[in-house]
Amino acid sequence: MITTNPFFEISTFASPIFMKSFVVLMILLVIVGTILDMLHKKNVKYFFENSKKAKKSAIRNPGSLEKTSIIVKTVSKDILTTSELGGKRRIAHLLGMYGTLIFWTTSIIMIFFYTSSNITTNPVFPILWHLGAFMTFLGGSWFWFFLRVDVFAEAYPWYRIVKADLFVLSLVKTSVLALIWSFFQSINFYLFNIIFFILFSISNLILFGGVYWSKFAHMFYKPGAAIQKNLAEADGSRDNLPMPADKPKKFGLGIKREAPKHY
Ligand code: HEM
Repeated sequence: MITTNPFFEISTFASPIFMKSFVVLMILLVIVGTILDMLHKKNVKYFFENSKKAKKSAIRNPGSLEKTSIIVKTVSKDILTTSELGGKRRIAHLLGMYGTLIFWTTSIIMIFFYTSSNITTNPVFPILWHLGAFMTFLGGSWFWFFLRVDVFAEAYPWYRIVKADLFVLSLVKTSVLALIWSFFQSINFYLFNIIFFILFSISNLILFGGVYWSKFAHMFYKPGAAIQKNLAEADGSRDNLPMPADKPKKFGLGIKREAPKHY
């Protein structure tokens, strides 16, 4: 199962050109959904206006070398390791994030380069595809069942579903359906192979078609915001926020009543 390219096996039912067009459609849905989201939330407009305002209170002007080094450091530390999150939350996110990236990349490679009958798929890609789907399922379910703020800290039941869950649930659903589809394909159960391929495709339509309503676009906003924050730190404007106090922290005894959950 894990060394077989499922897209090649299904290409007698769904032609390679159909699958390639589907991928292009998904990319277009992400672009359109993100643009609509930006227009609706006006977050990018706010982001640029805020950074223009903050620049006025800059106390130094870092050179292009320093700026490049800040960007490289932000990408390699803050973004690639999701340092904003801590503990289990960070591990679950890393599993889901890298799982998804591996799953998407290998899907594109297998659909675009390994669906014609005269090319044998390099087994590395299907193995990574299955691994990516499994990591996404693991990270996403861990987050959804146990680490959601409303479940983890506010004692809501795990089965409560709200609109904000659209993204994580679509990711989990898509990765599980991919694995089930591949399983039925591997045991030559033709009907379920087709049914789960169709369900997998519908799940992708929900995931990529739901960008406007879901948290999908955070994967573009978060890196931009992290870079802006670190640049503002370097030029001294600190996004117009005051310097941290140099006095010892005093929160009173109340802070000890319940251990912080760090979400
Ligand atoms: C392929 C890329 C990514 C995927 C698949 C992904 C996936 C997810 C998922 C499933 C959630 C939970 C959403 C929810 O609250 O329901 C989440 C939350 C979050 N993500 Fe990502 N993410 C990606 C990229 C990033 C990047 C690049 C950053 C930061 C630089 C980031 C930072 C965060 C933060 C801070 C949260 C909030 C976590 C919380 O509420 O505890 N993500 N992400």
